Amino acid sequence: MLVRPVSESQSERSEIIFPGDANALGNLFGGRLMQFIDLVGAMAASRHARAITVTASMDHLDFVAPVKVGDLLILKSSVNRAYKTSMEVGVKAMVEDVRAQRLRHVSSAYLTFVAVDSTGQRIEVPQVLPETENQKRRFEDAARRREMRSEETLRKRAMRAAMAPEWHS
Ligand SMILES: CC(C)(COP(=O)(O)OP(=O)(O)OC[C@H]1O[C@@H](n2cnc3c(N)ncnc32)[C@H](O)[C@@H]1OP(=O)(O)O)[C@@H](O)C(=O)NCCC(=O)NCCS
Repeated sequence: MLVRPVSESQSERSEIIFPGDANALGNLFGGRLMQFIDLVGAMAASRHARAITVTASMDHLDFVAPVKVGDLLILKSSVNRAYKTSMEVGVKAMVEDVRAQRLRHVSSAYLTFVAVDSTGQRIEVPQVLPETENQKRRFEDAARRREMRSEETLRKRAMRAAMAPEWHS
């Protein structure tokens, strides 16, 4: 069984926020932040799997504090746990106050990525080796979240199957 430490795929991305990404109040659009979160999550997942990955889901997302035009946004991601073909990735988004040298938490999310080959077929991924106390805690917590997610996925699949046929075309 192939195993990779979390540290091998931990990723980071930084963005300066420009007016084109913000609303009339100068606040970053939520959807743009979700895109940044998805991208930095995919970086960690693809590094861990050493393969192309697709986003299967993003869990509940809270926008804890606004991100303003001119802010320096820092996004960090790491693979919390891997299963057969999927991985849970945790992403934390923060704004860096460059003068005070402090980070302010603005959002975080858990995403599931699935590894695929060049034809789009799902492929198996290496397991995760958590090394630090934080990584071990996230590894344990990920198992509980996967259980809840599986129930939710089954419930949604049943709902989709019950929908009118035109929704499936
Ligand atoms: C994600 C996807 C590959 C899952 O394929 P599927 O045939 O439904 O696969 P399965 O039900 O057999 O599940 C495959 C794996 O994905 C996981 N998975 C599937 N749906 C999931 C969901 N909604 N949330 C979290 N994990 C999910 C399963 O737990 C399983 O993991 P495992 O192999 O590690 O045990 C498929 O739905 C897909 O290709 N979706 C589109 C992806 C995409 O285009 N993303 C970009 C968004 S535009």
